[in-house]
Amino acid sequence: MPHVVGDLQLISDINRSRIVISTNAGAKKMLRMIYASIALRKTKDVDIERIVSFSAMFNVDNDITGVLAFDGMRIVQILEGPDDVVSDLFGRIAADRRHEGVVELVNQRIDGHTLDRWGMVRRPISDVLLAVERLR
Ligand SMILES: Cc1cc2nc3c(=O)[nH]c(=O)nc-3n(C[C@H](O)[C@H](O)[C@H](O)COP(=O)(O)O)c2cc1C
Repeated sequence: MPHVVGDLQLISDINRSRIVISTNAGAKKMLRMIYASIALRKTKDVDIERIVSFSAMFNVDNDITGVLAFDGMRIVQILEGPDDVVSDLFGRIAADRRHEGVVELVNQRIDGHTLDRWGMVRRPISDVLLAVERLR
């Protein structure tokens, strides 16, 4: 009889751990960060295009969605994804020598992605600013 109780205990532990895993998955902490910056004079359109295509790969692999605008001088970028990944990425972006004067505009918890599921897309700055207004 005791070993039956033991088996039951084991089964209920397995079930409990299954439930915990799915609960954590559903409650994954998500973050939205929006910043503005100024591209260095030597940073050209082609450099930004390269950043966007490189970023698309990294971002898709890491469950990050993003939109970036560049008007020849100013940059505005929206990033959404898992808390720790977005924070780490923002640290790398802020330290990137291709732009300067990075100003954090938004840093907020979100329940899930609101941007289209591309890893990174480029949009006109007017569209991105409108999206920033809506998201704030
Ligand atoms: C304006 C701007 C936006 C960037 N956005 C992203 C991005 O969304 N995802 C990404 O992986 N890298 C992005 N990067 C590139 C990162 O700054 C960095 O070069 C990249 O994460 C590789 O980092 P590492 O050289 O430390 O490995 C961006 C760079 C700039 C200048």
